[in-house]
Amino acid sequence: MTDAALGTEQQEPREPAVLDDVPGWFWDHDRHLFDWFLGRQEKAGFSGDLMEMGAYLGRSAIVIGAHLQAGETFTVCDLFDSDAPDDENAAEMDMSYRKTLTRTAFESNYLSFHDRLPEIIQAPTSVLADGRVPAAGFRFIHIDASHLYEHVAGDLQVARTALAPEGVVVLDDYRSAHTPGVAAATWEAVFNHGLRPIVLTDTKFYGTWGDPEPAQLDLLARRGTLPNCSITNETLASQRVVRIDGNAEGAEPFRVSRHHERLVVEAARREKSQATEEALRAAERERDEAVRDLAARRARAAERRRPANVAKRAVGDLLPPVVTSAIRRARRG
Ligand SMILES: C[S@@+](CC[C@H](N)C(=O)[O-])C[C@H]1O[C@@H](n2cnc3c(N)ncnc32)[C@H](O)[C@@H]1O
Repeated sequence: MTDAALGTEQQEPREPAVLDDVPGWFWDHDRHLFDWFLGRQEKAGFSGDLMEMGAYLGRSAIVIGAHLQAGETFTVCDLFDSDAPDDENAAEMDMSYRKTLTRTAFESNYLSFHDRLPEIIQAPTSVLADGRVPAAGFRFIHIDASHLYEHVAGDLQVARTALAPEGVVVLDDYRSAHTPGVAAATWEAVFNHGLRPIVLTDTKFYGTWGDPEPAQLDLLARRGTLPNCSITNETLASQRVVRIDGNAEGAEPFRVSRHHERLVVEAARREKSQATEEALRAAERERDEAVRDLAARRARAAERRRPANVAKRAVGDLLPPVVTSAIRRARRG
């Protein structure tokens, strides 16, 4: 979760210069894996639609949208500013998204990186079960909407119907302590509904209802090529599952937004004018100090010039020290 996403006040949408400026819960590690899965499908000449359930302010949608090929559709389904379909989902929305999320902010972030918006369905993901999404037409679906069991289980059913056999489904927060509903729905789909795990990261489960092995072998072939990553081969209930651990340090950043150049120039200008202001303030402080110093010196000089002090000094200068001490002693006595 980024700081911006944690903000407690409704915030003015800020133009993003880079992907990290878009608040959200999508980390570089998974961004690279999204790119890898989608790029791998593209290289294999595999075509199909893309979908995200739960887009928030667009951080992961922007990355998925970068893989849209000619003739494909990218569908985003999110409540955005709409009411949730039940109380528990409404509480989830209030706790995590309401203060920062608007459809306008999503659209503005998305268009900072892309020329066209995806198809937006502003509604609970449960509406997707009404047959509006074509069966077996999708190659990639990211499930990251409500994290409550009933919702995720429904989203998985939609994904199962919508995905082509080679399609990939990604589930967010399948193992977080605060999202047991996602864990329950994910493993239920694995043990009861034929979902096959491909790879697990700290935050996401990548699976398929097709054959996971080709992608798993390609992933395992990358062992040792990513400096801060370990890729391991595990077995889970007699099925292979790959695990990726580590971080994406040193990895290629996502391309910058259309505002990047202008925002960089503006930031440099702001920095320069702040530096000029700071220099002016420092010069002012120095001048004030010099004025105060001069006033103090003048006051001391005036003090020295006061007639009583002049006479005292004259006496001191003219009389021999023995006499002046005698006078002082006499005065004290
Ligand atoms: C965790 S956020 C998505 C984060 C986003 N994928 C990212 O990586 O930045 C969850 C999103 O799901 C949406 N959401 C919650 N319940 C939903 C529901 N029942 N139907 C559709 N969207 C829902 C919220 O509005 C919120 O935008």
